[in-house]
Amino acid sequence: MSYPYQIQSIDQYHEAYQKSVEDPEAFWGAIAAHFQWRKKWSKVLDWNFKEPKIEWFKDARLNITENCIDRHLEKMGEQPAIIWEPNNPDERVRTVTYNRLHKRVCQVAQMLVNNGVKKGDRVCIYMGMVPELAYAVLGCARIGAIHSVIFGGFSAKSIADRLADANAEYIITCDGAFRGGKDIPLKSVIDDALVGNTTVKKVIVYTRTRTPVSMIKGRDVWWEDEMLHAEDILEKNGSINFPATAMDAEDPLFILYTSGSTGKPKGVVHTCGGYMVWTTYTFVNVFQYTPGDIYFCTADIGWITGHSYIVYGPLAAGATSMMFEGIPTWPDAGRFWDITEKHKVNILYTAPTAIRSLMGFGLDPIRGKDLSSLKVLGTVGEPINEEAWHWYNENIGQKKCPIVDTWWQTETGGCLITNLAGITPAKASWATLPLPGVQPVLVDEEGNEAKPAPTADGAVITSGNLCMKAPWPGILRTTWGDHDRCRQTYFSTYKDLYFTGDGALRDENGNYRITGRVDDVLNVSGHRIGTAEVENAINMHAGVIESAVVGYPHDIKGQGIYAYIIAEGVKPEDEERQRQNILQTVTRIIGPIAKPDKIQFVNGLPKTRSGKIMRRILRKIAEGQTDNLGDTSTLLDPAVVETIAKGKV
Ligand code: PRX
Repeated sequence: MSYPYQIQSIDQYHEAYQKSVEDPEAFWGAIAAHFQWRKKWSKVLDWNFKEPKIEWFKDARLNITENCIDRHLEKMGEQPAIIWEPNNPDERVRTVTYNRLHKRVCQVAQMLVNNGVKKGDRVCIYMGMVPELAYAVLGCARIGAIHSVIFGGFSAKSIADRLADANAEYIITCDGAFRGGKDIPLKSVIDDALVGNTTVKKVIVYTRTRTPVSMIKGRDVWWEDEMLHAEDILEKNGSINFPATAMDAEDPLFILYTSGSTGKPKGVVHTCGGYMVWTTYTFVNVFQYTPGDIYFCTADIGWITGHSYIVYGPLAAGATSMMFEGIPTWPDAGRFWDITEKHKVNILYTAPTAIRSLMGFGLDPIRGKDLSSLKVLGTVGEPINEEAWHWYNENIGQKKCPIVDTWWQTETGGCLITNLAGITPAKASWATLPLPGVQPVLVDEEGNEAKPAPTADGAVITSGNLCMKAPWPGILRTTWGDHDRCRQTYFSTYKDLYFTGDGALRDENGNYRITGRVDDVLNVSGHRIGTAEVENAINMHAGVIESAVVGYPHDIKGQGIYAYIIAEGVKPEDEERQRQNILQTVTRIIGPIAKPDKIQFVNGLPKTRSGKIMRRILRKIAEGQTDNLGDTSTLLDPAVVETIAKGKV
């Protein structure tokens, strides 16, 4: 069985692509007809990139949870929607059927209403990877509350900033989260974030680790008590169904904060209708999902991959989505392969950084594991190097599973450039072709369309900054509370184009290879971090005068963080302690994911006469190049470069 909008051959791909460009409204209107709407749209698409204003399925009404849950109940109520694999392999697996998911999401909806949450209110979710996180997300969507999930690796200060930006009045959290051998005290981090906060009205706490927590009278309540109370109310009303709120297709569904080139993360806003159509369409086509397949995306719901491809896309397609609480290397580096064997996983979607880290353990953790259930493999989050691609192909896919290299971003809602498993050809370390509805263009610095040029090996390659000419249903609509920031960041660099921030190459056959960010954004283990953000955090440390942060190639993380720091009176014997102290500060201000891998204390930074830091030079030094650093004659003090190069760590 397949889906009505499933592309099943390369000819169908070309045909769909053509149609999507020639008549996007007819194309997407026909696909959207396969979803459940309370009211049909008056117009499929209305847009301009100038403001920007992007409206898909105008005036339509729907609730995404009816599409993700209710419509599957009649035929597939007893099929697993979520299979949850706990951190500790000895703990019980939880299988959540669509019926059970419906019940739980309705209870959460009722619980939220009982606690005062209304449509349009922002609910911050800071939880570990437990099924209750999915219930919380969907419970918000059911009543039209806007969820803002924050990854469990962010600090109290990061949470406080996001709470303030979104003006969130409600929080759902856990007492703690298990991650490998660690037990992370999430509620305690929330408590720190709430010191001095006067806007948060309620904190709902789910019990996972049984770590001691402080519960503030009148503000903090237990998930378990509230869910029982909600169940009582629903039962008294004679049905466990909590009627979903009809939302406008363009009402916000969620906010997800992501880093850019400024010091302050932006709240990317996705809306109900277009996001639903896009995540479902891409999920089905990219992975070539067949009903009954067990699909395992190893991401965390704290990031966009988890939103789109653990929760919304798979569930709207009626799929079985695995959710994993742990980490790939605990209790040992065979964890993914044990899960694959145990649950007979058919589709595995993970990050290049995880593949590279597992490669480091050799083949022992794979030996004896039955991976024969696998049909499709996927990667996301960063460019995959050829070595990792081949390792994945040979040892995990056993050369019989197509690998989809999916390129996309928080802002794009779902995949934009990727092969379709087994349908369009893969090319190692190339994301390959745009999906229907996606119209990429490569431009030079001035915004002119880049021209193809022959390379030394006879190929003809076009190289430029990757932009999109037209909107697809899953494109971001705004940045929360500051529409002009959205315009400036994405739509003003090049006229009438959405600028991705990535550089890319295109071959003669129209395949794209993403070469990485061209702005000041780092991609560390697939996580986006702005250099300015890290610099701001370092500069808050006592005694630090100035800092400059750049990325450098890192064998496992893809990119590592290299910080050059001018600090007052650091004696050589104190350097190591000072480094550790600075790492503490960065952990406090942003979270452990932003900790620099290398810190070099310097006396000066290479600056132009106008005071701009020449990052190009610092990048080269961090990459290990200490001579031929290019033209340094425009620098205020060229000698500083030599000193920095000599002191490289
Ligand atoms: O640089 C690209 C890289 O990750 C960035 C987006 O990061 P984020 O919004 O956190 O979303 C990650 C998950 C979708 C992009 O601008 N990136 C993502 N996927 C790939 C990639 N780079 C190369 N190849 C990919 N497949």
